Amino acid sequence: MHLPNLLQQRFAEALRSSDVLGGTTIDIESFASMIRPTADPRHGDYQANCAMPLSKQLGKNPREVAAQIVEALNVDDVCEVPEVAGPGFVNLTVKNEFLIGSLESMLGDARCSVDSAPGDRSIVIDFSSPNVAKPMHVGHIRSTVIGDALARTLRFLGYHVVTDNHLGDWGTQFGIIIYGYKHFGEAEVVDRDPVTELTNLYRLVNQLIEYRKALAAVDRLEAAIGEAQQFLQQAVAEAERADAKQEKKAKKAVKAAERRLAAARSELEATREKIDAVERDPEMMAKAQQHPRVDVAVLEETAKLHQDDPENIALWERFLPHCKDEINRIYDRLDVKFDHTLGESFYHSMLGDVVSKLQEVDLARDSDGAVCVFLPEFDAPMIVRKQDGAYLYATTDLATLQYRLEQFDPSEILYVVDTRQSEHFEKLFAVAHHFGLEDVKLVHVNFGTVLGEDGRPMKTRSGTLIGLESLLDDAVERARHVVCDPERLSGFDPPMDHAEQEMIAEVVGIGAIKFADLSHHRTSDYRFSLEKMVSLDGNTSAYVQYSFARTQKILENAEKCESDVIEMVNEHGMLLTHPAERNLAMMLIKLEEALLAVHKDYAPNQLVDYLLDTAKAYSKFNDNCHVLRAETPQIQATRLTLVTLCGRVLQLGLSLIGVDVVPRM
Ligand code: ARG
Repeated sequence: MHLPNLLQQRFAEALRSSDVLGGTTIDIESFASMIRPTADPRHGDYQANCAMPLSKQLGKNPREVAAQIVEALNVDDVCEVPEVAGPGFVNLTVKNEFLIGSLESMLGDARCSVDSAPGDRSIVIDFSSPNVAKPMHVGHIRSTVIGDALARTLRFLGYHVVTDNHLGDWGTQFGIIIYGYKHFGEAEVVDRDPVTELTNLYRLVNQLIEYRKALAAVDRLEAAIGEAQQFLQQAVAEAERADAKQEKKAKKAVKAAERRLAAARSELEATREKIDAVERDPEMMAKAQQHPRVDVAVLEETAKLHQDDPENIALWERFLPHCKDEINRIYDRLDVKFDHTLGESFYHSMLGDVVSKLQEVDLARDSDGAVCVFLPEFDAPMIVRKQDGAYLYATTDLATLQYRLEQFDPSEILYVVDTRQSEHFEKLFAVAHHFGLEDVKLVHVNFGTVLGEDGRPMKTRSGTLIGLESLLDDAVERARHVVCDPERLSGFDPPMDHAEQEMIAEVVGIGAIKFADLSHHRTSDYRFSLEKMVSLDGNTSAYVQYSFARTQKILENAEKCESDVIEMVNEHGMLLTHPAERNLAMMLIKLEEALLAVHKDYAPNQLVDYLLDTAKAYSKFNDNCHVLRAETPQIQATRLTLVTLCGRVLQLGLSLIGVDVVPRM
């Protein structure tokens, strides 16, 4: 049930049948599609905006065009008599009979009247894709949660979805743990508790590398501060000289210069902190002195792995399963699954072929010993093989793309990856295009950064990214505090035992993190605040979960299950008597609109907004419309239908973004 699409069809028919176009050829569908929800309910539910732009093309009066369209329009079964308003809007109010009919169909349909998409080609979703061998951190939330929500939603819409976790299981991070194991590792310790020990080795070697980098960066950063200071002085001087006209611009320039200086200072501070952290710890300092080439040595270990060095391959084979165990634990907790987990290593043996193929078709050529693809639309080439013979991230992505096209015959491939990789994907798609891969839509579903409450990228005090697991623990703890506090629970009958409380805390805590992430448009950055995320009021998952629980409570008190409600409707029919009922009904029938909007822009926040609006409409309904004490059986049947459907829609919608519900909370 997609009302705007239905109305669009009717408008297209009207445009075709009336003589408003006077024989001119225009793109009827694009005009007919100009159907929008109205901003003000006094103007009806939807408005059609085609008359204004159409009148311009036809050189006619817009109100007259609107009147002519309305004349030919056949929407009697759906809407009240359309009204022409203002400069030529056509206002449409959905008939109550139509709403009631739609509710009845929804009630009898497990899919809640959402059509299933036709087509047999697949949509591949590449998401999560962490670099393993290091712990998952806060930055991994977004790809995992957005990708999973898209997979669930598109699958429900009827698409054949193939999910693939493109693990970074072959990169420098393995050079790091191999180096760590060879120099600092102990076999028994690793065997006893591999995950913890490998993480420790990773952190240790990484800290030594960061220390080297920090030492090398100090001079440059000091120079940058000097420059920023000069820049600021100039800006201040210019601001002093500025006349009234230039003042605003000059002040802005000063502010920008101040920000630049502050950023340079904080970078130097963070760099010094990295140096100090090593130097104030004698043990670390000794290690740093014994491993002055650690940064280069790690790359050498990685190169040996890639060249099939038996020792490194054996270590890699030994470590990889443990690294996977570690991330799988988090996926289990998040309830995220993949059809395939084909990491970068899977494509290793195909990379040589990819490069030869590119050379054969003259896309790639030699450049100072490296092999590069030069693209007319980019300044820098895409390097596919380095001088030393090493292949790159891009080479693997080309091999992956070929493999996916052969295996899955996709019509779309979605890469759910940080915005900072935009250039990589622009190049990848451009190469694919020159390679003749036209028959598939490639989309970089990019996303912004998770910031701390201070608006800066979220880090621990020592500068490392915050671990994902501890974040989940914190959210669950906070949820326990908010929803399971003894006073709140005192009214529950039967009382909630410990196991139920734990289950609710987990469902609410994990749901909060997912929901909050998805509530922002994916391309914007957002500030991570557990306090705001886990709250029973506000735009939170807990609010929607709580609304669901209320629907279940009402059905329980009424002692009605779905089949009883259907029977009541059959016997008494339905009647909308209160604006809050109508408003809720209108929200419920917009489910498909919300789901298609998720697909259109690959934006799960469309569904989140819809769920919040529906929960709010439900709350108004609850405040105004008694179910158990409804005036007549017909009104009661209507209200029970609304409650049943609202519960179903909220549960379904939450499940499509990977959030669970509980029957009471
Ligand atoms: N492992 C990469 C990273 O952590 C992301 C991989 C995304 N997918 C891809 N096909 N490139 O940055």
